[in-house]
Amino acid sequence: GAPYPVFTRQEVGQHRSLAERVWVTYRGEVFDITNFVELHPGGKSKILLAAGGALEPFWAMYAVHSQEHVLEILRAYKVGEL
Ligand code: HEM
Repeated sequence: GAPYPVFTRQEVGQHRSLAERVWVTYRGEVFDITNFVELHPGGKSKILLAAGGALEPFWAMYAVHSQEHVLEILRAYKVGEL
C-alpha cells in the first residue's frame, strides 16, 4: 500500500479536542480517533485523557484493551506514523 505520512509527537499533540480532531499514538503509529470518541465503551471522558498523546500508559492501566478486536478498531483510524 501507499506509505503513510510521518508526523512528529508535537504535531500529534495539536489534536486534543473534537474541534481540532483527536489524535493518539500507539506503537509508532498515529490514529485520528475523532469519530470513535462517542462510540468508546469506556466513555468519552476516559478516551479523551489520551488525546494528543500515547495510548500505552492508559492501556497499561486498563488491560481490557489487550485484545485483538480492540486493535482492529484502532487500525481502522490510522492516519500516519511517527
Ligand atoms: C473499554 C477501545 C482508549 C478506558 C474499551 C472497549 C473498547 C475500547 C473496544 C471495550 C472492550 C471490551 O469490553 O471488549 C478503546 C480505543 C481507545 C481507547 C480504540 C483509543 C483509541 C481508552 C483510554 C482509556 C480507556 C485512553 C482510559 C483512560 C476504558 C475502560 C473500558 C474500556 C475503563 C471498560 C469499560 C467497561 O467495560 O465498563 N475501550 N479505548 N480507553 N476503555 Fe477504552
